[in-house]
Amino acid sequence: MKIVSIVGARPQFVKAAVIGKALDKFSEVEEIVIHTGQHYDENMSKIFFDELQIKKPDYNLGVGSGSHAEQTGKMLIEIEKVLLDISPDWVVLYGDTNSTIAGALAASKIHLKTAHVEAGLRSFNMRMPEEINRILTDRISTKLFAPTQNAMDLLAKEGLSEHAYLSGDVMFDSILFYEKLAEEKYSLNEITDLNEFYLGTVHRAENTDVPERLQNIFSAFSELDAPIIVPLHPRTKKMLQGIKYSDNVKIIEPVSYLKMVLLLKNAKKVLTDSGGLQKEAYFLKKPCITLRDETEWIETLEGNWNFIVGADKEKILERVAVNEFAEQTNAFGDGRAGEKIVAELLK
Ligand code: UD1
Repeated sequence: MKIVSIVGARPQFVKAAVIGKALDKFSEVEEIVIHTGQHYDENMSKIFFDELQIKKPDYNLGVGSGSHAEQTGKMLIEIEKVLLDISPDWVVLYGDTNSTIAGALAASKIHLKTAHVEAGLRSFNMRMPEEINRILTDRISTKLFAPTQNAMDLLAKEGLSEHAYLSGDVMFDSILFYEKLAEEKYSLNEITDLNEFYLGTVHRAENTDVPERLQNIFSAFSELDAPIIVPLHPRTKKMLQGIKYSDNVKIIEPVSYLKMVLLLKNAKKVLTDSGGLQKEAYFLKKPCITLRDETEWIETLEGNWNFIVGADKEKILERVAVNEFAEQTNAFGDGRAGEKIVAELLK
C-alpha cells in the first residue's frame, strides 16, 4: 500500500511527523513524502525534518514564494505529475495552506483518494486564504479527520458528516511526544539569557500587510511588563521596515519546533496570530492572547486561556493583565489521533 503525504509549510511538517510515526508500525505501507517547497529556508523547513525525524522528502518540487495563484498553480502542475507517476492508494493533506489545496485539487481530479487531517476548521473570514483552502479541501476530500467535536459539527452543517471522523488533534499527540525530548535536547539558556519573558509570533497576512495593525501590535509588545521574544517569520521581517518598537522586543530568527516548545514552556504568556501556537499554548497551560479578529480554535477561549484581541494595543495590554483561569476541558482527544487516522486509512 502506498500513502503519499503532501507538505510544504512549517505547521504541516509537525502534523506529518505524527502520521509518519504511526505509519512506521505497518511494514506493508510505503510512505512517500512530497514537499512542495512552499517554505524553503533552512530554519523554516530542513530543521523540522531533521529534528522531528520525518522521512526525507522523496520529491521536492521547489515551488517557493509567489502570489497565491502563481504558488498554487505551480504546485498543481508538479504534484499532478508526481501523483500520476506514483499512483498511491491515499493522498494525505494537512491543515490549510496553499500546499493543502493544491494537493487536494491535483489528487481528486485524477480520482485518487484523499484524506484531510485537521478538517472542519472555520474562521468564517473569507478574506483569509487559509479559510478558502480549508473549505475547498474539505468539500473535495474522501475522508475528513476532525480534531474536535466543534469541527465535526461544522462539517455536519456543510453536509459532510458522511465522510467525517472525530480523530482528535495530531498536534496534541505531537506535544505529548516531543515535550520531554525538547527538554532533553536543549536548555533554555542556549536560546535566551532571559528568565522572564513573553513569547510572540506574527505572520498572518491580515497583520503583516496592514502597517497600522503591525504597528499597534509592536507598540503593545514594546509596553509589556517583561521582554517579549519574537521568532520572526520571513514574511514579517520584510514588512517591519518603518515599524517602531522598543528594546523590550527581542527579535530572533525562526526557531525549530523543539526550541519553540521549550520557549513556550518557559514563557509567561503567548501573544500570537498563529493557529497552531494558540493550541500549543493551551496544551502546555500557557495563557494566550490572539492577535486576530477571530479564531478557529474556540475551545481554547474557555476559562480565559485564550483571548481574541485583534491588533488593538489597549485590548492586548488589558488581556495580558488577566490572571484567573478555570480548569481546562479535554477537547483535543487522547493523544492518539495519529494512530486512529492511520487505522482508518488502512481499513
Ligand atoms: C503559510 C500558510 C499559513 C501557515 C503558515 C505557517 C498559506 C496561504 N499560508 O503562510 O496557513 O500558517 O504558512 O508559517 O499557505 N518566506 C521566506 N522563506 C520561507 C518561507 C516563506 O522567505 O522559508 C517568505 C516568502 O517571501 C513568502 C512569504 O514568506 O512570500 C510568505 O510565505 P508563504 O508561503 O506565502 O505563506 P506563509 O505566510 O508562510
